[in-house]
Amino acid sequence: MAKSKSRKAFVCSECGSESSKWQGQCPDCKAWNTFKEINLGSSRPHATPAGNLSGFAGSLAAVQALSEVSAEEAPRFSSGYSELDRVLGGGFVPGSAVLIGGHPGAGKSTILLQTLCHVASNMNALYVSGEESLQQIAARARRLGLPTDRLKMLAETSAERIIQVAEQEKPGIIVIDSIQVMYMEGVDSAPGGVAQVRESAAFLTRFAKQTGTVLLIVGHVTKDNSLAGPMTLSHIIDTQLMLGNTDDSRFRIMRATKNRFGQVNELGIFAMTERGLKEVKNPSAIFLSRGEETTSGSIINVLWEGTRPLLVEIQALVVESQLGNPRRVTVGMDQNRLAMLLAVLTRHGGIFTSDQDVFLNVVGGVRITETSADLAGLLAIVSSLRDNPLPQDMIAFGEVGLAGEIRPVANGQERLIEAAKHGFKKAIVPVANKPRKDIPGIQVIGVTKLSDALDAI
Ligand code: TYD
Ligand code: MG
Repeated sequence: MAKSKSRKAFVCSECGSESSKWQGQCPDCKAWNTFKEINLGSSRPHATPAGNLSGFAGSLAAVQALSEVSAEEAPRFSSGYSELDRVLGGGFVPGSAVLIGGHPGAGKSTILLQTLCHVASNMNALYVSGEESLQQIAARARRLGLPTDRLKMLAETSAERIIQVAEQEKPGIIVIDSIQVMYMEGVDSAPGGVAQVRESAAFLTRFAKQTGTVLLIVGHVTKDNSLAGPMTLSHIIDTQLMLGNTDDSRFRIMRATKNRFGQVNELGIFAMTERGLKEVKNPSAIFLSRGEETTSGSIINVLWEGTRPLLVEIQALVVESQLGNPRRVTVGMDQNRLAMLLAVLTRHGGIFTSDQDVFLNVVGGVRITETSADLAGLLAIVSSLRDNPLPQDMIAFGEVGLAGEIRPVANGQERLIEAAKHGFKKAIVPVANKPRKDIPGIQVIGVTKLSDALDAI
């Protein structure tokens, strides 16, 4: 195939937005002076790179009725780790591209090496490292006691050459560690730049889709938590997993932030040990580490993360403000939600905080995205304001509405059962979440209004 003329474009280095002409401000992310001219080479969108890929230079696609399209999915396969399978939505989907993001040192290479060593016993697997030397990886695999005889290794940073090797080896699964060091000939930017990262990822992903290979791409996040410019890769790949640290440095949380093949709120928890990453199969109470003495401003909330409950401590600190504009600070929770809760507390609880600084913290580095923490947050705030400790064995959950009503949340019964299992004896929950049949060991107080909840404590 003849080489087509190289294409030029302007790409925003912040968000990867593309434009045919230079612009002072990016229309998508509103950043200034971020458009850089790049040479897209001849690799996109239709031409094939050197070393022709079978079927790449497309024949004309046929139109089909939606009903005629086979909806049969290729069967998923397990990663060997149930926590990883859970976050993926039930294992790997052949032909899918999965991005694993995280800060350097989060354990991305470790979890992928462990996974591939295990998967390699059933299928051809290829680990491409552009960062660590193969000796380093081999030493690590040996130290971790992983089965190393079937896994194929490749030290390479050229996306084209990786695909040439993959065409010969025909692996069912490929790891690219990491996308930041990959490059393509003809793309006119340094490895790690937005253009290289995006073009290499798109090229590798096209190969994965056409051959039914699972592609696992490692991406380091920068200090503002973006992967080589936010959004750069997220529309190319199918699933984006983030591996994050918790306050307890042993634990790692894996979370799907995008998933075309499963839920996005599913959570996997691992512990970093001297023998690599180990799964934590019953993690519901790992974030509970309260001391013996009771302190004011603290209560346990039962979260629902994906398909299972998680007990987390919510702490509030309310202190008289020295500022004209008192502070409202949250860690692990939405700040606007706190402002709303305080307004409800004033209007429907008759409790004023307008001269107080209010801090709300979710212990353990967990980020709460559901509304069930509203009630626990409010009770913690009231407890701190009055310097009145809540019972150690009490939990609370429920959404607080603007009219001061306490609204039910999903999976109330399962949350209560989990709390009872961990020895909690009292629960303040929305009345609609109160189970009809008593749960042994836990006394459940159903509340309909904020004032009921305040009476209950
Ligand atoms: P790594 O997988 O190299 O991180 P990433 O690829 O995300 O940058 O993990 C490196 C960290 O994990 C490093 O700080 C050491 C730690 N670690 C252990 O504690 N135990 C182990 O068995 C391994 C392999 C790593
Ligand atoms: Mg690494």
